[in-house]
Amino acid sequence: MTIRAVVFDAYGTLFDVYSIGALAETLYSGQGAAIANLWRDKQIEYTRLITMSDPQTAGGSKHYRSFWEITRLSLQYTLDRLKLDASDANVEALMQQYAHLTAFPENIGVLQALKAQAITTAILSNGSRDMLDSAVASAGMGELLDHVISVETIRRFKTSPESYGLVQQVIPVKAEEVLFVSSNAWDALGATWFGFTTLWVNRQRLPYEAIGPKPTFTGNDLRETLNLIANS
Ligand code: LAC
Repeated sequence: MTIRAVVFDAYGTLFDVYSIGALAETLYSGQGAAIANLWRDKQIEYTRLITMSDPQTAGGSKHYRSFWEITRLSLQYTLDRLKLDASDANVEALMQQYAHLTAFPENIGVLQALKAQAITTAILSNGSRDMLDSAVASAGMGELLDHVISVETIRRFKTSPESYGLVQQVIPVKAEEVLFVSSNAWDALGATWFGFTTLWVNRQRLPYEAIGPKPTFTGNDLRETLNLIANS
């Protein structure tokens, strides 16, 4: 196994989304976890609904909305569904939290170690350009990533093959030479199906998806990336 590039998912993998549930709990006492979970599920559901329903012809995206818009709309749905007050101030506070996430504690050190070894590093995310730039800056990762790749350029979300294919348009390596790292099991599965070498970072100690092949590797936090690189 030769790994030439490490490509990370963004939300939940590099950026810690915990603070969203914490703020939601402050705004809506007793409902923080329910809001965070439903919001995330609805957000991902909308990406799939859109990409599955969009024509696959080049430039054929009819239903595409940016991930930022989807994030806001799925928050509105979540508050409606839970019968909570969707005041502009609360929605804005939660959206701003989304735009300014912190990194998981070990992440900066892992990115620094990869840079020291001259490994190419990148993000591949459903996130729109602006929200990724903002999160990368607030997490202090700007200098540590060679590329920030957003599916916005093709308007097709993960797990479409075209979305994973963006990586090789930017980094000229074979699919198996990419170590794709995600904390989202569905994303690790999509990337494994695509042909990347994959690391599922199982931060929440969840079972893996019941369908499809297992990821190439599984770890408990991002430091597992360095162990794999050392052995590649
Ligand atoms: C991302 C989300 C889905 O693509 O985690 O960054």
